[in-house]
Amino acid sequence: MENKSGIKRIAVLTSGGDAPGMNAAIRAIVRSGIDAGLEVYGIDDGYKGLIEGKFHLMDRMSVSETINRGGTILGSARCKEFKNLEVQQKAVEKFRELGVDALVTIGGDGTYQGALKLTRLGVNCIGVPATIDNDIASTEYSIGFHTAVNTAVDAIDKIRDTSNSHRRCSVVEVMGRYCGDIAYAAALATGADYVITADIGFNMEQIIKIVKKCQKQNRRHILIIVTEHITDTSDLARQVEIHTGYESRATVLGHMQRGGTPVWYDRNLASRLGTKAVECLLNGEGGKCVGIFNNEIKVFPIEEALKMKKNIFEGYPELTEKLS
Ligand code: ADP
Ligand code: F6P
Repeated sequence: MENKSGIKRIAVLTSGGDAPGMNAAIRAIVRSGIDAGLEVYGIDDGYKGLIEGKFHLMDRMSVSETINRGGTILGSARCKEFKNLEVQQKAVEKFRELGVDALVTIGGDGTYQGALKLTRLGVNCIGVPATIDNDIASTEYSIGFHTAVNTAVDAIDKIRDTSNSHRRCSVVEVMGRYCGDIAYAAALATGADYVITADIGFNMEQIIKIVKKCQKQNRRHILIIVTEHITDTSDLARQVEIHTGYESRATVLGHMQRGGTPVWYDRNLASRLGTKAVECLLNGEGGKCVGIFNNEIKVFPIEEALKMKKNIFEGYPELTEKLS
């Protein structure tokens, strides 16, 4: 990769909720940066570590044996103060002190906001999308999403075994913050009977109707998938039992969905996006983010990315119900 920008030192951080495949992205950034003749610094604990000056020089070996590891070797944090201009200016001073020219930020849309602010203050930043929620519209898939769905599917398959033995209804809550993508993908893959997300809305009458329909079919198990933050999942299971007489249990999958070995797709996606991010910095670009559409790597201004809308799981809830 040709260095058209004259930059010599770049840094990388991971921020927001961790996601499987973040390490593969760090590895790609470190190795492609070194390959292009750059010095690459890792920053521990996201924007929090940045303002505390937690920079350390990385070499090829700093990222060896990491492509298959979940979590993030750099650590992550949520740092509310970073929304303040004075705190962002303090971060810019840290870059000046160390002579670091540019930054790759790996995280979700909150992390993108921070990257945009830093770019406006003179430090070129490129965002790499990594969040299990898949709630970034400037990419079809974010790093970590495929692994999280696989983890959810694996857990739901196990719940189904016991549900089936006891003739029960399982109500399973998945993560996603306010995005239904994990729920949509997991529901179709596990043969769920109904999926509830913020977009679909919560409709108790409809849920009871579905459960009663399944009862009429003399089904041994019924499966409902619900995204977090919509309702109290234990209460939902109780209501199903009260209104239908079908014994029900609730399971909240929680943080297990964020852990574990990244699947091949997330490793490959992270390797491609991380490399592209470095290429953007070498071209002198900043305030941009990388993403994938139809297997092609694309670059968007962060400002535009944050306004984009997507619905790649359009039709999934209807198909889930139809096949139930
Ligand atoms: P994610 O990046 O996964 O969406 P968060 O929304 O928690 O996760 O954001 C991660 C971090 O990004 C926050 O803790 C904060 O440090 C930074 N951030 C979020 N919003 C802004 C903002 N408006 N301006 C500057 N930094 C922000
Ligand atoms: O953004 C990833 C995510 O796991 C969301 O799905 C979830 O709502 C949130 O982070 C949980 O955050 P925390 O780790 O702070 O509990």
